[in-house]
Amino acid sequence: MVTAVYPGSFDPATYGHLDVIRRASVSFDRVVVGVLHNSAKSPLFSVEERVNILEKATKDIPNVIIKPFNGLSVNFAKENEAQVIVRGLRAVTDFEYELQMAQTNRVLAPDVDTVFLTTSLEYAYVSSTIMKEVARFGGDLSNFAPPEIIQALHSKMQEQNEEK
Ligand code: PNS
Repeated sequence: MVTAVYPGSFDPATYGHLDVIRRASVSFDRVVVGVLHNSAKSPLFSVEERVNILEKATKDIPNVIIKPFNGLSVNFAKENEAQVIVRGLRAVTDFEYELQMAQTNRVLAPDVDTVFLTTSLEYAYVSSTIMKEVARFGGDLSNFAPPEIIQALHSKMQEQNEEK
């Protein structure tokens, strides 16, 4: 039984994330997606909202579960008895940061390996940050995420505009 964790901010999840989750679910017996609570990035969505969005988007994949987490990814891996951390690689620009993270995680937990899945080419340009930027200026989001996530993003932005 090989369990993989897939940690990230998922603020919110994109087609790129969902592609990595789906493919990881084929290679590993169990995939635990970890939604980072204490992100230094001041997320747009609360951790509960991000977990909820991912739960809905992955409800048809039986061996995937979504959990919030705090602290180190390697500790999240150990708590879930995972042998592997999965991360997606979109482009060479991701590589330096991802390599440093994987090497740090290896020093912290030599028994947990990082496995990179190269993002499918059709989603190589997609990121949560770019998606939020396009949303802010009313652009077409249909290539970035499924309709329910786009809807959640629009509602959240409307909520924020009303607060201003
Ligand atoms: O989706 P992101 O923001 O690129 O994910 C980054 C994440 C959550 C995987 C990374 O920031 C992380 O692992 N944070 C938890 C703290 C940690 O384990 N740091 C040590 C590795 S550098």
